[in-house]
Amino acid sequence: MKHVILVLSGKGGVGKSTVSVNLASALSAHGRNVGLLDLDFHGPNIPKMLSIEGQKPAVLVHRIEPVHVTGTLSVMSMAFLLPDTSTPVVWRGPMERVAIQQFLDEVNWGTLDYLVVDLPPGTGDEALSIAQLAPNVRGAVIVTTPQDVAVLDAVKSVKFIEKLEIPVIGIIENMSGMCCPTAGIS
Ligand SMILES: Nc1ncnc2c1ncn2[C@@H]1O[C@H](COP(=O)(O)OP(=O)(O)O)[C@@H](O)[C@H]1O
Ligand SMILES: [Mg+2]
Repeated sequence: MKHVILVLSGKGGVGKSTVSVNLASALSAHGRNVGLLDLDFHGPNIPKMLSIEGQKPAVLVHRIEPVHVTGTLSVMSMAFLLPDTSTPVVWRGPMERVAIQQFLDEVNWGTLDYLVVDLPPGTGDEALSIAQLAPNVRGAVIVTTPQDVAVLDAVKSVKFIEKLEIPVIGIIENMSGMCCPTAGIS
């Protein structure tokens, strides 16, 4: 993995998974070998967004084959490992850390130019674990929406990333045209 890029935000629903899918697709469309790792264990949406929900990764002894979307884009998500779309993952933090380690070490990613990591909202275990466990973490893309409460939490994400000494390579204000003046929110 030459470049690992984290996609995170303070709030849920601001567009992290959408940005991750678009970023990974754009890089792979430029001929780069790209992995897309869905680390939102409690709401793994990447397979649905790529219409690969029904796929099951092949497990060969200690190697898990990621789902190949194209010749240059592979995906791994907890959603592939759950029996159905309504089954929740009920884990404590240490289990998640083990799963993240396995997604890095035991998935047969091949040689990747980029690994794009879609994270759950906030500055919790998953973000901390991937920042510590992944090699070559080059930077983070922070996603927010224009609402004050989303920006407030995005600032926390920036500080969290700076604390980990990871460069912030971009801040995306998503859904800029969708603010809701009738609800009195600016
Ligand atoms: N720019 C956008 N315009 C319209 N809908 C969007 C946009 N970005 C995201 N969405 C939609 O908003 C919802 C939440 O996005 P998602 O990427 O799942 O957010 P997150 O991963 O931060 O929880 C999804 O239904 C997604 O399709
Ligand atoms: Mg998401």
